[in-house]
Amino acid sequence: MKLVVTGGAGYVGSVSAARLVEAGHEVVVVDDLSTGHADAVPEGVRFVEGDIAEVAGPLLAEGFDGVLHCAAKSLVGESMQDPAKYWQGNVVTSLRLLEAMRDNGTQRLVFSSTAATYGEPEQVPIVETAPTRPTNTYGASKLAIDYAITSFATAHGLAGVSLRYFNVAGAYGKFGERHTVETHLIPIVLQVALGQREKVQMFGDDWPTEDGTCVRDYIHVLDLAEAHLLAMENAKPGRHAIYNLGSGFGFSVKQVIDTCRQVTGHEIPAEVAPRRAGDPAVLVASSERARQELGWQPKREDLTSIVGDAWAFATAGRGD
Ligand code: UFG
Repeated sequence: MKLVVTGGAGYVGSVSAARLVEAGHEVVVVDDLSTGHADAVPEGVRFVEGDIAEVAGPLLAEGFDGVLHCAAKSLVGESMQDPAKYWQGNVVTSLRLLEAMRDNGTQRLVFSSTAATYGEPEQVPIVETAPTRPTNTYGASKLAIDYAITSFATAHGLAGVSLRYFNVAGAYGKFGERHTVETHLIPIVLQVALGQREKVQMFGDDWPTEDGTCVRDYIHVLDLAEAHLLAMENAKPGRHAIYNLGSGFGFSVKQVIDTCRQVTGHEIPAEVAPRRAGDPAVLVASSERARQELGWQPKREDLTSIVGDAWAFATAGRGD
């Protein structure tokens, strides 16, 4: 297939673009480099630098089979302080993309949605039919796009798939996580191991969990990329399918830090800090639907290997 990957200079986008190319698809990456890195675009891939809202129309007029839409503003805290950035950057931009797809007859869309669309879960593991009550603007903006995709599928026959990621981690060779402002647990802990930070703060140790710290479902970015491939291949015209993507195993903040200590061989000082606003105690995915309907089979569920790949990436000098 001939595909556009938006956000293909970012973390999930670059790994997914690399896997699509390896699977034999023709890929064009669009990215405004607001958070991505030009050198993360896989080799041999055409790169269009620019705002998707402006670039999508002329590009899709060239004739594409589908779009993998990974470009987004994705910091929960920032979304609460500057909501306009999220309604504009996520919702308005995605609407422009959907319109350009409709106008140019681009059939398939795979969208990077998020577990943040569910908010505080009533039950774990979380299934796709769980109530969607986002507790932050980031999750609300992604949910709004999910609704837009449903209505474009109904009205215009779009073949849409939303993938609701849980906590993405790990790396794929030279493709990994390197945010200018890092907020995610595993890269932060590895920065402590590298001596780039003094210590890690654990946001709360009085949560209703076994060891008192928050529990999350960490999914290897390469398993996630495989799901994108399957989703693109299985997208059905007039249908909007939604899939949760997680490994189904929960690890606490303390367990993550301990695993990082084992993998890196560094002491990694940690201290308890106040809870972070908007954090649910436990987020664990049920990915049964993706397994059954897409035949998706995560292969890298072991936290040690997820952290090991992130550590290999960080120590290769690309983690700063
Ligand atoms: N945490 C710390 N200290 C830190 C950073 C994080 O204790 O310095 C804790 C958080 O409080 C949380 C856990 O580690 O309990 C994981 O936090 P992350 O920031 O790594 O990830 P989140 O769970 O907050 O969010 C991520 C994505 C969201 C997505 C969500 C779904 O950033 O986009 O997973 O599970 F919606």
